[in-house]
Amino acid sequence: MTKATYFGHSCFLIETAGKRLLFDPFISANDLAKSVDVGAIRAEYLLLTHAHGDHIADAETVARNSDSLIIGNYEIYVHYTGRGLNGHPLNHGGKASFDFGTAKMVTAVHSSGFPDGAYGGNPGGFVIWNDETCFYHAGDTALTLDMQLIPMTCPPLQFAILPIGDNFTMGYEDAVLTADFIQCDTIIGCHYDTFGYIRIDHEAAKKAFADRGKTLILPAIGETLSL
Ligand code: NI
Ligand code: MN
Repeated sequence: MTKATYFGHSCFLIETAGKRLLFDPFISANDLAKSVDVGAIRAEYLLLTHAHGDHIADAETVARNSDSLIIGNYEIYVHYTGRGLNGHPLNHGGKASFDFGTAKMVTAVHSSGFPDGAYGGNPGGFVIWNDETCFYHAGDTALTLDMQLIPMTCPPLQFAILPIGDNFTMGYEDAVLTADFIQCDTIIGCHYDTFGYIRIDHEAAKKAFADRGKTLILPAIGETLSL
C-alpha cells in the first residue's frame, strides 16, 4: 500500500516500499500549513522538481534532520552537495534505481532559479515506480505534448500529482488534458490556493475532471491518502 500525505502547496510525503519520499517541501513559510511541524518530518529521500523557493524552502532542514538523499537536477545536486548534504543528480529523460524503486526525471515547462538568483538548471517532474505503484509528480509545469511520452516510457500510472492553480502553472482545465495525455484517471491537485494569484474554485475544478470521467482529489493539509 502506498500512502500520500499532503503538507500543502506541492509538498507530499509518499510512503512506498517501506521508504519515505518527500517532494518539494515548502511548509514553514506557507500560511496554510501552520499545523505541520517541519521538524518532525523524516524522509530517506527528498525529491526537488526545481529550485524556486516555494519548492525548496524547507529542503535543507529536512535533509539535515533525516540525512536524506536529495534527488534533483544536476544544478540542484551541485548546490546541496556543496553544502555538505547527500545528493543524486538526474536530468531530463534519465532514470536511476534506488532502494524504493526507479525515479525518472521528465519534462516540465516552467522556469527555475534559486531564491538568491543562482542558476537552478531546468525544471522537471518525476515518475516513480516499484512493485507496488507508479506515480507522477509533475512539479510546476504547463500542459505540454511531452507528457504523452510518459505512458510510452513508464509503467501504467496509478495516480498523478498535477498543478492546477493556474497563473504560474497550468490551470485545472489543462490538467484535465494532462490526465488524458498520461492515461491516468486519479489525479491529486497541488499548487493552488497558497497565494492570491492561484486561488481556485474547488468544485469547478472537481467537476471539470468528473465531466471527463476522472477523479480530482484535493486532500486537506495533513491528510493521508491510501493509494
Ligand atoms: Ni516554480
Ligand atoms: Mn511553484
